[in-house]
Amino acid sequence: MSLPTPFGLHPSTTEFDASDALRLSQRLIQVGIALSSETDLQRLLELIVAQARELTHCDGASLFVREGEELRFFVVNRHEELRDLRLPLSPSSIVGYVVLTGESLNLPDVYRLPADRPYAFNPQVDRQTGYRTRSLLTVPMRDPSGKILGALQLLNRLKPDHPTPLAPDQVAEWSQPFSELEVSVAEALASQAAVAYQNVQLREELKSAHFETIFCLSVAAEYRDQDTSFHLKRMSNYSRIIAKHLGLSSHEQELIFYASPMHDVGKIGIPDAILQKPGRLTPEERQIMNRHPEIGYEILSKSDSELMQKSAIIALTHHEKFDGSGYPRGLKGEGIPLEGRIVALADVFDALASRRPYKEAWALNEVFQFVEDNSGSHFDPQVVAAFNRGRSEILEIYHRYQETR
Ligand code: C2E
Ligand code: SIN
Ligand code: SIN
Ligand code: FE
Repeated sequence: MSLPTPFGLHPSTTEFDASDALRLSQRLIQVGIALSSETDLQRLLELIVAQARELTHCDGASLFVREGEELRFFVVNRHEELRDLRLPLSPSSIVGYVVLTGESLNLPDVYRLPADRPYAFNPQVDRQTGYRTRSLLTVPMRDPSGKILGALQLLNRLKPDHPTPLAPDQVAEWSQPFSELEVSVAEALASQAAVAYQNVQLREELKSAHFETIFCLSVAAEYRDQDTSFHLKRMSNYSRIIAKHLGLSSHEQELIFYASPMHDVGKIGIPDAILQKPGRLTPEERQIMNRHPEIGYEILSKSDSELMQKSAIIALTHHEKFDGSGYPRGLKGEGIPLEGRIVALADVFDALASRRPYKEAWALNEVFQFVEDNSGSHFDPQVVAAFNRGRSEILEIYHRYQETR
């Protein structure tokens, strides 16, 4: 798909014929394909708005999303300062009227509206920016069930062969009404925006429900108390911060964030008498305890999902050490999967900084010293370096999720 044309640089035409309609529908199909593969909501809506602007030859466009009794400017490409501004949802504004009634408004000149209209143009933005809005097309963002999630607003359909760039005070002169075909194109794009917006929201909801479930089970598998819950919140955040500072993709960062809280689920197979023992473990008890990575792997590796596969690997390898002295396999260096090396540091950092049934919490400077001292022996030096680069974020999480002692 072509990139959005910069403001004012598109070739313009006035007349549409059948081949224009065909070209437009091909473009709409392309947009649809892009939408089904794009998961970032902001980028996706920006793409839709850019396409709407290009296909209708207009000078500016905004997308408003309904949030309760307000409308939020979600995407703006004319007046950037408006982004995230909120307006009350009222039928007396043009965009409010469209969202509340579901009717598209194709206005040739917003400064010459017939007096009997329930809505009026709000000239405030024009006044503040020196811009002059004339033709204005506002269409509802309607989902397939008919629900209206917001509106797409297109400003100033430009006459062909306008000068480029156009100064703000020249725009009105080159503005002409939107055609019926352009109204249909805008409506189709706005509906695609509605579906995209809904999909992303649904996906976010599913993901957080999914994560909550995993998280509760992970807590249940361990000490069944608040301390563990905070430990898992901290160590999953630490793991993500390290992954970020190692330069891993945002997808990898997210996978590690969601998979890491499951690293100790294998402790579900360890008797309470050992798990909660106030003192040091005997060698026999230690042997039993050291089975938890393999038990965890057995539990987690049953699923084919990418997340569960990642969590199984983390469970199995989070007690391996960089110099080969860890367990259960005695893997060494880069023979240990990277996610295992990351979680090893996040887990031990947090274990040391916290109270355990068998030990007191260490002071933070001692914990940082321990990490330094064990770089290259217990921990991967590159992971330690990433941890140090993320130090301020690590500390922010440390303070945010503190149990009351
Ligand atoms: P955990 O309490 O979550 O500790 C995770 C890891 O943090 C430990 O893995 C170890 O690498 C590090 N760590 C924790 N406390 C200390 C400490 O005081 N000094 C040092 N140098 N490192 C520490 P490790 O040793 O493989 O232990 C795995 C799990 O086994 C621990 O998870 C804990 O549940 C249990 N565990 C280990 N030692 C004892 C103990 O002496 N008594 C009891 N009751 N449980 C223990
Ligand atoms: C309106 O819809 O009433 C005006 C919003 C705008 O200035 O873009
Ligand atoms: C979590 O539940 O661990 C995520 C919390 C957060 O990232 O703020
Ligand atoms: Fe563990």
